[in-house]
Amino acid sequence: MKDYVATIVKNEKIAENIYAVTFALDEDCQVRCGQFGNISVGGTHLLRRPIAICKAAGREVTFCYQIKGEGTQKLKTMGAGTRLHVLMPLGNGFFVEANERKIALVGGGVGVFPLISVLREYGEEKEISAYIGYRNKGAVCGVEEFEKATKFVGVTDDGSYGERMNAVQAFAADLEKGNRPDVVLACGPTPMLRALKALVEQEGIPCYVSLEERMGCGIGACLVCVCDLTNGKKARVCKDGPVFRVTEVNL
Ligand SMILES: Cc1cc2nc3c(=O)[nH]c(=O)nc-3n(C[C@H](O)[C@H](O)[C@H](O)COP(=O)(O)OP(=O)(O)OC[C@H]3O[C@@H](n4cnc5c(N)ncnc54)[C@H](O)[C@@H]3O)c2cc1C
Ligand code: FES
Repeated sequence: MKDYVATIVKNEKIAENIYAVTFALDEDCQVRCGQFGNISVGGTHLLRRPIAICKAAGREVTFCYQIKGEGTQKLKTMGAGTRLHVLMPLGNGFFVEANERKIALVGGGVGVFPLISVLREYGEEKEISAYIGYRNKGAVCGVEEFEKATKFVGVTDDGSYGERMNAVQAFAADLEKGNRPDVVLACGPTPMLRALKALVEQEGIPCYVSLEERMGCGIGACLVCVCDLTNGKKARVCKDGPVFRVTEVNL
C-alpha cells in the first residue's frame, strides 16, 4: 500500500450520475480484485473517499463513482492533468479457490464496480455468471465488461432495462433452473445482501460479500468503519474486509 501521486488521464460520465476516472500513477501498482483506493479530493475535504478499484493495469487505474455528496461532486469537476493523492491498494479483496470453477456475481448500485474487477481477474479461467441490478435504464453501466462473462443478466427496479426485478431475484431464478455456482461474490446495498444471505444459507452455497461502511483512515487505525461479526466480535471493514464470508457478518 502506498500514497500514490495520481494524475487524471480522463474523467467522464458513463451513466446518469455516474462517472469513471482514470489515473496514471507515479509507479506501478499490484491490485487484486475487490480492493479499493482512498482518494483525496483536496481542499477542505480532509477525509478521503473510499472507492473500489474497477480496473488496474500497470500504472493506470480506473475508479467508477456515483455522485453523492461534496467529495464526489468535486471529483467530477476535475479534468485531465489534475494531480491527487490516492492511497491504495486497500483491503483484502475477493479470493476464489482453485476448485471453485463456477462463480456467480450478484451486484447492485455502486456494488457493481468491484465486481467488474473480478471479471477482469478471473474471467479467463472461470465460468462466471453476472446478475446485476440497476435502478433504471439511465443507471446502466459496465455492460461491455459484464458481457464478457459466460452469462450476463442485467435487470432494473422499474423494468426499463431487462426484467423488472432485483439482482438477487435474477440469481434465484437462474438457480431454480439449475445454474448453481460453486461460490457467490456480491456487493451492493445492505437489504440486497441480506436477501442474498438468506438464499445462499438455505441453498448451502459459499458466499463472500464486500461491505460498504463510512470510513476515515482506510488503513485500520481510526475504527470508524467497524462492523459486527456473528461471533460477537467486531471487525474493521477497511482492513479486515471489505470482503467477508457472508456467514461471518451481521447484516
Ligand atoms: C470499500 C468501499 C468501496 C466503495 N466503492 C465505491 C465505488 O466503487 N463507487 C462509488 O460510487 N462509491 C463507492 N463507495 C461509496 C463511496 O465511498 C461514497 O459514496 C463516497 O465516499 C461519498 O463521498 P461524498 O463526499 O460524495 O459524500 P459525502 O456524504 O459528502 O461524504 C462525507 C463523508 O462520508 C464518507 N462517506 C459517505 N458515504 C459513504 C459510503 N457509502 N461509504 C463510505 N464512506 C462514505 C465520505 O468518504 C466522506 O468522508 C465505496 C465505499 C466503500 C467503503
Ligand atoms: S477507516 Fe479507519 S479503521 Fe477503518
